[in-house]
Amino acid sequence: MNPVHDSEIRDIALAPEGRRKIDWASAHMPLLAQLREQFQQERPFAGKRVAICLHLEAKTANLALLVQAGGAEVAVAASNPLSTQDDVVAALVDAGVTAYAWRGATDEEYHRHLQRLLDFHPEAIIDDGGDLITTLHRDRPEQLAEVRGGCEETTTGILRLRAMEAEGALKVPMMAVNDAYCKYLFDNRYGTGQSVWDGIMRTTNLLVAGKTAVVVGYGWCGKGVAMRAKGLGARVIVCETDPIRALEAVMDGFTVMPLVEAARQGDFFVTVTGNRDCITRPAFEVMKDGAVLANAGHFDVEISKPDLRELAVSVHEVRHNIEEYRMRDGRRLYLLAQGRLVNLASGDGHPVEVMDMTFALQALALRAVVQGDFAPGVHPLPRELDERVARMRLAAWGFSVDELTPAQRAYLASWRA
Ligand SMILES: NC(=O)c1ccc[n+]([C@@H]2O[C@H](COP(=O)([O-])OP(=O)(O)OC[C@H]3O[C@@H](n4cnc5c(N)ncnc54)[C@H](O)[C@@H]3O)[C@@H](O)[C@H]2O)c1
Repeated sequence: MNPVHDSEIRDIALAPEGRRKIDWASAHMPLLAQLREQFQQERPFAGKRVAICLHLEAKTANLALLVQAGGAEVAVAASNPLSTQDDVVAALVDAGVTAYAWRGATDEEYHRHLQRLLDFHPEAIIDDGGDLITTLHRDRPEQLAEVRGGCEETTTGILRLRAMEAEGALKVPMMAVNDAYCKYLFDNRYGTGQSVWDGIMRTTNLLVAGKTAVVVGYGWCGKGVAMRAKGLGARVIVCETDPIRALEAVMDGFTVMPLVEAARQGDFFVTVTGNRDCITRPAFEVMKDGAVLANAGHFDVEISKPDLRELAVSVHEVRHNIEEYRMRDGRRLYLLAQGRLVNLASGDGHPVEVMDMTFALQALALRAVVQGDFAPGVHPLPRELDERVARMRLAAWGFSVDELTPAQRAYLASWRA
């Protein structure tokens, strides 16, 4: 395969700017640097074809280059049509990775890119949201036997994998990287928390302090989004369907109420549920003039765009990545990044150090899948890999921790003491 000839990208001439972004991220990814040294010696992926379907920006590029340094032939496609950074993809191709992605791909182009990635006949897969794995099972069952296994990055992907597993439809082993502690406790919470507000603020240039932020979904991502909204000086309302999570929000100091009530009060709305139709017509009908709507969940179905279009008398882009929906009564509702993940479609995604941890997990999980002999199904990441990544991150920041003594270990493992 010749990456420059086989790739479908916007413009290879963008490579130098992409390289600068990759290098900046790399300089702040000490965990991947350590793994690169190890993988360059051990070559755990020697001769293997690895397909990566993730948000294609600078941190992901460093993961792709790490897998390549471990001996793999690597091809990438985007896990979302609006999150691709064309300069980063150009730099990847320049570095010998085959890529099928450009920013703003149509639905048809997005799915063609996934098909092209499967034409590469991957033996291992890193997926984000489950589009590549579901396409493989639906359209290429004859290739399933070639795939040794893969890793899944996000909550939505794990939900889809578990649904496939429950029906007996999942035919390859998949490591649930999202469910590792070192993933969701940090990436979903602190990563999404910070980058969502970064995306909203850089897109709108509006003040958050003194406003009301409505966070829809108080899972791992929602907790981070609410926490950072509070830190920015917003009054935070949480909307939930799970009573336990709602109670947690109350005890964390937030106001909880049904969405239609919160709709009247919010200045900013952030959906982060992994579910569909979380903000729909009844809420749009009572929102304040100027309300800003952003989604951070994996798919663009959390804020109902069909309902918004039906209610609007006009829709137009008033600033890059901000669409104004003007209602019949003159109110204006502003949708960011077409309802796609605001932190990636309208920003650079999670902070670098967080993705250093997540992608260290991905690299170690991929190695485990390629070298192990797992049955088809969803597998938890082995605890020792989770702990290894936590120790690496602590060490990189100069922290060390106490060790249990043998007597303490025995005490904790005993019921007689
Ligand atoms: N933007 C990003 O960078 C990023 C990062 C990680 C995960 N994600 C995605 O964000 C989404 C949420 O992930 P998570 O890890 O927080 O999941 P989670 O399962 O921990 O939390 C989701 C929460 O949403 C609630 N919920 C479901 N339907 C709801 C509804 N209609 N109204 C109100 N609340 C509702 C659930 O009860 C749950 O508490 C997923 O799609 C995930 O893939 C995005």
